[in-house]
Amino acid sequence: MQKLTAVILVGGPGTRLQPLTDDKPKSVLPVLNRPFMEHTIAYLRQYGVEDIILTLSYLPDAIRGYLGDGSRYGVRLTYCLEKEPLGTAGAVKNAGAYLDNTFIVLNGDIFTDMNLADMLAFHREKKAKATISLSWVDNPSAFGVVETDSEKRVKRFIEKPPLSEAATNWINAGIYILEPEILEHIPSNTHYMFERGLFPRLLGMGAPVYGYPYRGYWMDMGTPEKYFSLNVGLLLSTVTGPLISISEQNGIYYSQYAVIHPTAVIMAPVMIDGGSRIGQGVRIKGPVVIGRDCRLEDGASIENAVLWDNVSIGAGARLRQCVVSSNTTIGGNQDVINCVVTPSQTVPLFRP
Ligand code: GDD
Ligand code: MG
Repeated sequence: MQKLTAVILVGGPGTRLQPLTDDKPKSVLPVLNRPFMEHTIAYLRQYGVEDIILTLSYLPDAIRGYLGDGSRYGVRLTYCLEKEPLGTAGAVKNAGAYLDNTFIVLNGDIFTDMNLADMLAFHREKKAKATISLSWVDNPSAFGVVETDSEKRVKRFIEKPPLSEAATNWINAGIYILEPEILEHIPSNTHYMFERGLFPRLLGMGAPVYGYPYRGYWMDMGTPEKYFSLNVGLLLSTVTGPLISISEQNGIYYSQYAVIHPTAVIMAPVMIDGGSRIGQGVRIKGPVVIGRDCRLEDGASIENAVLWDNVSIGAGARLRQCVVSSNTTIGGNQDVINCVVTPSQTVPLFRP
């Protein structure tokens, strides 16, 4: 694939992911024990994308601290900071100095195995100014709804309409291929969105905007439930990503630096990171992800859970369907079911 520059939108606070995002932007939440952004970078790298711009407005140091200059991942990372959030399109305008050829934009909270090279070929074939990737979802009202004609040309873009007004289940999947001319239609230093601003504007001008439909795996991890579903879904499914190996998907994968008592019972799919200690008689029933330096004391039992780093589960405690954030301690013999647990609070994970 021709070498394109990609812009990743990682700026929003991700308020709907609280309390998981109290001290971290959602783009670095661990997914299968790797910061989410590492998966996105590796995904782009697969298609030969080496120049990546991260647009940031919320906790920028947390992201720069993790990712650095990108050399570890074989890419060059450039950071474009916004003093105040500029919106999705405003953030890209702010990075305009780096964008003089066809470029890619990605929402920073989506996971997909969509074929980017194929999308680029489609964009070229259609001679589009903007191509929007589309995903089919059951409930489109939480997304941007995109109506296309038989040639896949976009007729209408409506951001988050009430369900009764959504004319199709095809929604904006948050990956765009854009021509640099579109930057002329984004105001500078102003809060401006692709979804409510630029796309409707381009359609109004009659510009060639196309939708590229994809029916494979796609997930926006923008709520705790979806974040949980992404982690367990990746362990259970056949979705591939450059950072997901077969052993991680089909079996029990644990770091050589994890210490597992011989009487522990572990049922796949389970991932256990280095420095974690699994005590006597512990029962782990996948899908379960356990981060670094966790302690599962004797007789603890966990099922369907995501534990970040340095989590302690007391002896005899039982966890089901939980996300437990870093540095959290759960006392012995407690039952914790359907919860997001952080050091300071416990809230329901799936709400009725
Ligand atoms: N730099 C920057 N500045 N990034 C931003 C800003 C900003 O002001 N506002 C939002 N973002 C980033 C978010 O961090 C996220 O990665 C991405 O833009 C999309 O924002 P979300 O807050 O996650 O939006 P959404 O999920 O409700 O809706 C968007 O994504 C859907 C697909 O997942 C829209 O693009 C919908 O049309 C789309 O269907
Ligand atoms: Mg989102």
